[in-house]
Amino acid sequence: MDFKTELNKRVDYIENIIYSSLIDSSKSNSDKQAEIYEAMNYSVQSGGKRLRPMLMLETSRLFHGRDEDVSYFLTVIELIHTYSLVHDDLEAMDNDEYRRGRKTTHAVYGEAMGVLCGDALLNYAFEMGLKGIKAAKDKDRALDALDYIATKAGAFGMIGGQVVDIKNENSDIDIETLDYINELKTGALIEASMVAGAILAGATKQEVQSIEKIASNVGKAFQIQDDILDVTSTTEVLGKPVLSDEKNNKSTYVTLLGIEAASEKVKQLSEEAILILRELNEDNVFLTELIHHLVYRKK
Ligand code: IPE
Ligand code: IPE
Ligand code: MG
Ligand code: MG
Ligand code: MG
Repeated sequence: MDFKTELNKRVDYIENIIYSSLIDSSKSNSDKQAEIYEAMNYSVQSGGKRLRPMLMLETSRLFHGRDEDVSYFLTVIELIHTYSLVHDDLEAMDNDEYRRGRKTTHAVYGEAMGVLCGDALLNYAFEMGLKGIKAAKDKDRALDALDYIATKAGAFGMIGGQVVDIKNENSDIDIETLDYINELKTGALIEASMVAGAILAGATKQEVQSIEKIASNVGKAFQIQDDILDVTSTTEVLGKPVLSDEKNNKSTYVTLLGIEAASEKVKQLSEEAILILRELNEDNVFLTELIHHLVYRKK
């Protein structure tokens, strides 16, 4: 299997689905609020890695789910993730000017539109989720999947993590607090992605629990690697500013333990995730490769 080719195939597949549900801002520019459609499309159509929908799709495939049963939910998770980035970049949060290789949404459309664009993307995610439920053959599974995603996106999940992250700028925190932040701000949406994929495919309760653990590890590893790249990469490669964490006085694995120990942690979390995946006795070579690839990713 050529991983890169397979990866690009999936990005194309996912983007086709997501882009097909965006509001056509050229057709709707007679609407007085047309600028919001433009800002939404600007944020979404900008070359993210599409990792979360990919994890959802591949987890569904792992349990022999049908691709069409996850379609709407691929869009849901990427819209929620994109909104979280739009808000994360605002002046009141990380105050960053670049994202996905171009100016951040608030830098182009202004602070107020940045806030509203994030709100609109989140709202649109729930519209898409409800369409997903209406279209579902198995409505209970679709309901459970959206329920799980909603909880993980909110105050008990991603938002909660962002709160603890922001409140602890400029203060020394211990590893436990940092793990808590990473588990919520990044782990939660990755868990939502993989668990929703498992639920939609009809995985058993026990299988869902294993997926939750795998996703939690992947999420934490993903954030530590993000923190490493924040100090070792370049803006050109990342498509977002480097040294953003230092600018905001954030504690990370890099500031607490150093780059080497942080990299070791990424490897350890990912290897454990791959081990649990193997124990499921279901086969998805691409998913295993993807988790492995995230450890060494450069962006
Ligand atoms: C960035 O996520 C925010 C983190 C949780 C570290 P990604 O690195 O997945 O961002 P995109 O979607 O590829 O732009
Ligand atoms: C953000 O973490 C996680 C989110 C919930 C958006 P970061 O603040 O480190 O993400 P980047 O580095 O800006 O992408
Ligand atoms: Mg942040
Ligand atoms: Mg940030
Ligand atoms: Mg970061």
